[in-house]
Amino acid sequence: MIVLFRSSIARLLAAACELGRNTPSGKLSRDPAPRYGARMSANLVYVLNGPNLNLLGMREPEIYGSDTLDDIAGMLEDRAQELGLEVEVRQSNHEGHLVDWLHEANAEGAKAVLLNAGAYTHTSIALLDAIKSIKVPVIEVHLSDPMTREPFRHVSYVGMGAVGEVKGLGAQSYVVALEKAAKL
Ligand code: DQA
Repeated sequence: MIVLFRSSIARLLAAACELGRNTPSGKLSRDPAPRYGARMSANLVYVLNGPNLNLLGMREPEIYGSDTLDDIAGMLEDRAQELGLEVEVRQSNHEGHLVDWLHEANAEGAKAVLLNAGAYTHTSIALLDAIKSIKVPVIEVHLSDPMTREPFRHVSYVGMGAVGEVKGLGAQSYVVALEKAAKL
């Protein structure tokens, strides 16, 4: 499943106009098809979320907290408005979608990407290659602190390409990462 959140009325209207167009995954959604290089979005921050993060709120709340991804998207939209930014929050359980969206963020000329790649953080050379292939700076985000958890979470391929990292603050990790992105 892909989850897309829109951050402003303007973008909502744009998405409505694009209804029925195909995403890179081939699924119909509210999201417009990528317009490679069509415009620069200097204030746009992509917030990309990987596998199982659609279940936030009910997924191991003792580790990840009780906020849903929708709650986090709301917090980010509020903070983005204060910072003069726009956020594009997405979630997919599929590695290739995350790769496509990193490419899209680059083609869109986004200011930054906040990436919580979930378990792909610890396995995905494809995500590392994508991060290294694009100009947009990527900030790694985690609700928990993987370094204090099981040893298999101690390797971060995402971290090998990211310009920074925010972890262990629960939902606030995303907000702090957005504040970092604002300063880039
Ligand atoms: C996570 C940490 C990862 O190790 C884990 O696989 C997740 C969530 C976090 O936000 O704490 O899915 O990225």
